[in-house]
Amino acid sequence: MLNVSILHGPNLNLLGTRQPDIYGDRSFEDLLTELQTEFPSVKINYAQTNVEGDLVSLIQSHGFKSDYLILNAAAYTHTSVAIPDAVAAVPAQVIGVHLSNIYQREEVRHVDLFAKHCVACLFGFGLEGYKMALRYITNVEDDK
Ligand code: DQA
Repeated sequence: MLNVSILHGPNLNLLGTRQPDIYGDRSFEDLLTELQTEFPSVKINYAQTNVEGDLVSLIQSHGFKSDYLILNAAAYTHTSVAIPDAVAAVPAQVIGVHLSNIYQREEVRHVDLFAKHCVACLFGFGLEGYKMALRYITNVEDDK
C-alpha cells in the first residue's frame, strides 16, 4: 500500500479557528477523514508540531518510511534552513502545500526555502490543495 505522510508545522493544529478568513473554518482532522475515504488505496499518516527541531525529526522519520511527504512547514517555510536540509536528505518525494497564496501576502512569506527540493508545490487552494496533492500522487502511481 502506498504510504503518504502529511506533516504540519506551527499553528496548523489550530486550523478551523485560526484566522478563518485566511485559513478557512474547517479542522484538519475533519479533512483527514474525508481524504482517507476518498483515497482508500493510500495509507495516510498525519503529524503536526509547533517545534522546528521536531519537524526536522518528523521529516527524517517519515521521509524514510513513506513514499511521499505532503509538507506544510507553515512559518518555518520562510525562516528555516534545517527543514530544506531535511527534505533534501530523505528519499521520499515531497510536495509542498500552503493553504494561502503566500505570494499575495506580506513580503516575509514570499520566500519558500524548501520549494526547490519539492517535486511540486501548491499554494492558495486552501484545504483543496491536500486533495490535489493526493490526486497527483495516485495518478502518478497508477501510471507506473
Ligand atoms: C501557511 C503560510 C505561512 O506563511 C503561515 O505562517 C502559515 C500557514 C499556509 O498554509 O498558507 O502558518 O503555510
